[in-house]
Amino acid sequence: MKRSQSLSLCLLLTSAITCLATQLPLLTRPSLPASSTSNTELLSLHRRLIEIESISGNEQAIGDWLASYLVMHGFQVQKQYVTKDRLNILAYVNSNKTDILVTSHIDTVPPYIPYSIHNGSIWGRGSVDAKACVAAQIIASLRLLQTTKSTKSLSLLYVVGEEVSGTGMKYFSANAPSNYSAVLFGEPTEGRLASGHKGMMSFTLSIEGKAAHSGYPWLGIDANRILLHCLNALEKLEGELPADKVLGNSTINFGMIQGGVANNVVPASATAEISIRIASGSPEHIRDLVQDALKPIKSQTEAQGGHLSVSFSNRGYGPVRIDTDIPDFDSVSVNYGTDIPNLEGKHKQYLYGPGSIQVCHGPNEHLKVKELEDAAIAYEKILEYLLRDN
Ligand SMILES: *[C@@H]1O[C@H](CO)[C@@H](O)[C@H](O)[C@H]1NC(C)=O
Ligand SMILES: *[C@@H]1O[C@H](CO)[C@@H](O)[C@H](O)[C@H]1NC(C)=O
Ligand SMILES: *[C@@H]1O[C@H](CO)[C@@H](O)[C@H](O)[C@H]1NC(C)=O
Ligand SMILES: *[C@@H]1O[C@H](CO)[C@@H](O)[C@H](O)[C@H]1NC(C)=O
Ligand SMILES: [Zn+2]
Repeated sequence: MKRSQSLSLCLLLTSAITCLATQLPLLTRPSLPASSTSNTELLSLHRRLIEIESISGNEQAIGDWLASYLVMHGFQVQKQYVTKDRLNILAYVNSNKTDILVTSHIDTVPPYIPYSIHNGSIWGRGSVDAKACVAAQIIASLRLLQTTKSTKSLSLLYVVGEEVSGTGMKYFSANAPSNYSAVLFGEPTEGRLASGHKGMMSFTLSIEGKAAHSGYPWLGIDANRILLHCLNALEKLEGELPADKVLGNSTINFGMIQGGVANNVVPASATAEISIRIASGSPEHIRDLVQDALKPIKSQTEAQGGHLSVSFSNRGYGPVRIDTDIPDFDSVSVNYGTDIPNLEGKHKQYLYGPGSIQVCHGPNEHLKVKELEDAAIAYEKILEYLLRDN
């Protein structure tokens, strides 16, 4: 532990870097007592991470805590401020130019659920998504760094904002250009290597009609009815969207619809928030299909004197292929989005994590202690493979 106290804590402020202490003497790996990589330490790290509430937007406390934990355990740490109180954490030994990046996110969805452990399982917000990944990755990396003879090196990156729009990873990608040969992402995959996930795009439909007395509907333009036509057209389109052998069908979610003011008034406006999970094809192609499907309704609406607009919030992203070429692991495709498309680069990419996505974001988020312990062993195996000198 003595050695680690001489480590420097560097602050990466937007683009400028300040180191609080002088650089280290030559140090090739953290040298720590065996207890610092035990299963007891794994459980206590996981517990501490869950006890610090870190709902997206409120990640400062967990970022600061995690930075000092990593410094105490022999890493050099750069804090990358995404905004003045939201920070990504990058940890490494010796140099931040490494071959491998190991990453996950430190934010969670709301509401906060306190930590509890009973009957061999751990409960609480983030217990699976993704604090189990964070804890298991850190302990696995520490174990590996004690023993590896590889000339390759790794960094750990913990980002903010994954649950909302990937702000943290997008910021890292734009501001810390890097050249990794492989990146290992952590999200719950029930202990298997994910082979891919669908892409995603979202848009808003807005219809302006004209209000009238419901007894005289011909005096108005019924925005809700126009919306119904749009939803019908999109539902029909859903069956024709490109599918993929591995990822399955593309699917449409009519996530939120609103319209009208009262049962006896012809509705003057209606909106719908819609997203599409893309199994195959580019977001541009899907956008064209959506626009074509709505074109006849749009002209009809405009001929009546109403207005229909389709606005896409951003480009979205296409289906993501993930590498699975690590011996002795099963693979599985998943249906959720990740930070993988937010990190630019030509690296190989892997996705692995303990626990089931099915309980994440819900009130009964939990995993077995055994799953957490097994994940640390599995991460160590994966990293050993990625760090091998070939
Ligand atoms: C305890 O866990 C076991 C195995 O996970 C399960 O079968 C059992 O129902 C649990 N018991 C209680 C009281 O939750
Ligand atoms: C590594 O640190 C340098 C400055 O010391 C910085 O310019 C660079 O962006 C950092 N790289 C990463 C991947 O954070
Ligand atoms: C990235 O790494 C590859 C292989 O290690 C190397 O050939 C290439 O020059 C590097 N590119 C940059 C921009 O550093
Ligand atoms: C995919 O869609 C087709 C029809 O478009 C349907 O027959 C099939 O059951 C769907 N597959 C899945 C996995 O939902
Ligand atoms: Zn997650």
